[in-house]
Parts: sequence; structure tokens; C-alpha cells
Amino acid sequence: MEQLIVNGPTRLEGTIPVSGCKNAVLPIAVAAAILGDSVSVLRNVPDLTDVATLRAVLEGLGAATKLKGSTLYIQPVNHLEYEAPYELVRKMRASIYVLGPLVAKLGRAKVSFPGGCAIGPRPIDLHIRGLEHLGAQVQVQQGYIYAQAPRLVGTEMYLTGQYGPSVGATANVMMAATLAEGTTVIRGAAREPHVSDLARFLNAMGANIEGIGTPMLTIHGVKHLRGTEHTVISDDIEAGTFMAAAAITKGDVYVKGITAAQLPAVSDKLTEAGVALDWDDGGVRVTTPRPLSGIDVTTSPFPEFPTDMQAQIMGLLCLASGTSTITEKVHTDRFIHAAELNRMGANIALDGRRAVIHGVSSLSGAPVMASDLRAGAVLVAAGMAAMGETVVSRVYHIDRGYESMEKKLNRIGANILRVNDSWEEM
Ligand code: UD1
Repeated sequence: MEQLIVNGPTRLEGTIPVSGCKNAVLPIAVAAAILGDSVSVLRNVPDLTDVATLRAVLEGLGAATKLKGSTLYIQPVNHLEYEAPYELVRKMRASIYVLGPLVAKLGRAKVSFPGGCAIGPRPIDLHIRGLEHLGAQVQVQQGYIYAQAPRLVGTEMYLTGQYGPSVGATANVMMAATLAEGTTVIRGAAREPHVSDLARFLNAMGANIEGIGTPMLTIHGVKHLRGTEHTVISDDIEAGTFMAAAAITKGDVYVKGITAAQLPAVSDKLTEAGVALDWDDGGVRVTTPRPLSGIDVTTSPFPEFPTDMQAQIMGLLCLASGTSTITEKVHTDRFIHAAELNRMGANIALDGRRAVIHGVSSLSGAPVMASDLRAGAVLVAAGMAAMGETVVSRVYHIDRGYESMEKKLNRIGANILRVNDSWEEM
């Protein structure tokens, strides 16, 4: 397995480009492969292991895919399989996105029940409930979800659970509803930028979705969706990660290819902590003209502060003066990185869903372990600010969602080496 060796402290300086949005590409590729009846061309697709995993899932269902540079070609086939097996689904929870489209297109689906993960149990009751509202019969047996409906029928539904709206359930049900008979209204829909990008893609395929970007989506069913061309939006979380990394290294970085509207709460909170953000049409310049000060952050669905930026802001707040708090309201168990940051000299205390961070003046390098994708990102960022060598293991988590992360950071001043963990024996 690979590790990243981060030597610090380093200061980031220069321009860093943002890649296409992972969480947009995944459902868009599913829609192209299952709902479309001709080839789709997706541009600005990041080269990530999650994208490779999804391609394997879609090819297992019978679609053909080809990635050339950052362009992904998807050819749906006439004889789709209706089964997504455990061996593939277990690698990536987002495989659940095939459920709704398969029922809508084939009238039935058999999809392995996704497991929990390092950030909590992550149920799929809202996905199931939404499809049942559309008239599907859904059963869970022996680890598989079986769903069937000769034809889905539009209806009104409320799709928010105890932790708020669900990105995945909104996307799944919206995709299914595009081919349903009549009109579907989803209230309590997720509004994340990637959900809107999926909706725009579906409309370009011939769907009729209104209310994009609002909590109420109205989907008028159509008979067919055709392939189309689409440029995927840039990744707000990757951009936010680079913004936090620029600030934690007290750097001067232009994060290229992002708009303020994609991450309003992250911009607000960075500014409140003392980071200067200078936006223009092409991106944002990030500098740290004054010492960072502690702030309070609560994660919530868009447009509030994203849970996927919680680890990265925690890293930054470790070096802010005074006391900060972070309340995690989206995922039940998403503070594993706190213990790893403490190994680097941070002072973070956990109390259920709340983390209390007492600022320290410096961090020191240590061997640490990435427990999930974003936890991996904060350990790399903290390593760049820390004194000495930080060895981040379980790098495969980072590769799931960051395209060439260390290459991009090294180009602007980081000192990160990727090695095999057998290197020590050499
Ligand atoms: C997506 C993102 C993930 C991000 C999350 C929240 C993708 C591929 N992943 O995950 O990176 O952290 O949004 O922004 O886009 N819930 C239920 N029942 C359900 C579904 C969800 O209770 O049926 C709960 C979840 O456990 C969680 C909350 O709702 O507490 C939000 O989850 P959701 O928005 O569905 O996350 P994902 O779509 O899995």
C-alpha cells in the first residue's frame, strides 16, 4: 500500500487548478449509462479511483465507457443487466445510484445493500422510501435490495430525514422520476451544486425538471432520454481543501476554476477566521494577512457548511488562536481525524457530535492514518504546516476523490513524496 511522506513546514505559493466534481460525475455517469439511449460525452471528468469503480459498475451492467484525458464517453446498451453485485457496490457507496435508474428503465433492479463506512452507518431508507412513493415495490433480502415496478408513476413526496435532505436520495429519486408517468414533486430536496449539475445534465438529455437549486424539484416524466454532451462543474470540496491548505501554510495561492456561489459557507467561515479571499471570475486568491482566530462551525446540508469540509477546517483551526468548536450535524461519526491531528500536537477534545479545538502555535510531523477521503486531505494539509516529516498511510482514501493531489500541491511549493510502504525495508 502507498503512503505520502509530507515534509514541512512548507508555504504554498502559486496557482492550483480545480478538477471536475467527483460527486457530480458519479450520478451523471449513471444517468448517461442507464437512462440514456445514445452516447453521452462528459467533459472535465477527474481521474479518480471512484470514477474507475463506477465505470466497472456500469460496464458490469452492460454499458461501455472510455476515458480519454478528462473526457468520458458512455455508450448505454439495449440489453442492460439489472443486477449490481456486492463485489462492486462494496467498493463505493455511490453505486446505490444505479437503483432508481434501473427500476425506471428496466422495471426491476437488484442492487447490493451498501455497507456503513468510517463516517457512520449511512442508511438508505430515504432512497427506498422515495422509490416506493413512485410505486416501486422494494424488498431487502440477503444483503440485496430488490425493486420492481412495471412503470413508475409520479407523485408528491417529502424526502428529508432526521439529518436533513439527502444528496443521494434526491439524485436517485430524481433520476427515476424523469422516466415516470406524470409529474413528481420532491419537497425537502438536497440543493448541493452537484445535485443541480445532475439536474441540468438530465434536462440536456430531454428530461423536464423545474426548481433546480431549490428544495422543491418538479419533474415532469418523459418517455425517452437521449445521450448528450456536458461539462461537469468544478469540485467545490477540492477547491475548499486547497483554500484551507493555502491558509494553513500561510501561503499565497490562486485556486483556479471555482466560483464563490459554489461554497458560500466555507468562504464565510474562512473569512471569519482571518483568511483573505479575493474572488474574480476565474477563481479566488487566498492569503493570510493576519493571525488566524478561532471560530464556531456547524455542518449542515447546502448552503450551510459542508460536512465534506469539516476535517479540513478542523486542521486549520488547530493553528488558530483561542478556542473553536465544530458541530457535525450530517454524519454521525466523522471525527476520527481528530485523534490523528492530536498525534501531530493539536489539542482537540471530542464530546459526541461536537469537537472543541484549543489552538496551538505549531504542529509536528508524525505517522498518521487517513480514515476516509477528507480525513486524508486534512492530514496532508496539516503535514505541510507541521515541523518535520508526516507519513500519511491509507492513501487510497485520498485517491478516491483527489486527482493527483500531491502533484498539484508539489507544483506550488509542497514537499510530498508518494512511496510504497515496503520502501522502509529497502
Ligand atoms: C453525499 C456525498 C458525501 C457527503 C454527503 C453529505 C456523494 C457521492 N457523496 O453522500 O460526500 O458527505 O452527500 O453532503 O455525493 N441519510 C438517511 N437516510 C438515507 C440517506 C441519508 O438517514 O436514505 C442520512 C445520512 O446518514 C446522513 C445524511 O442523511 O446523515 C446526509 O446523507 P446524504 O446526503 O444522503 O449523503 P450521501 O448522498 O451518502
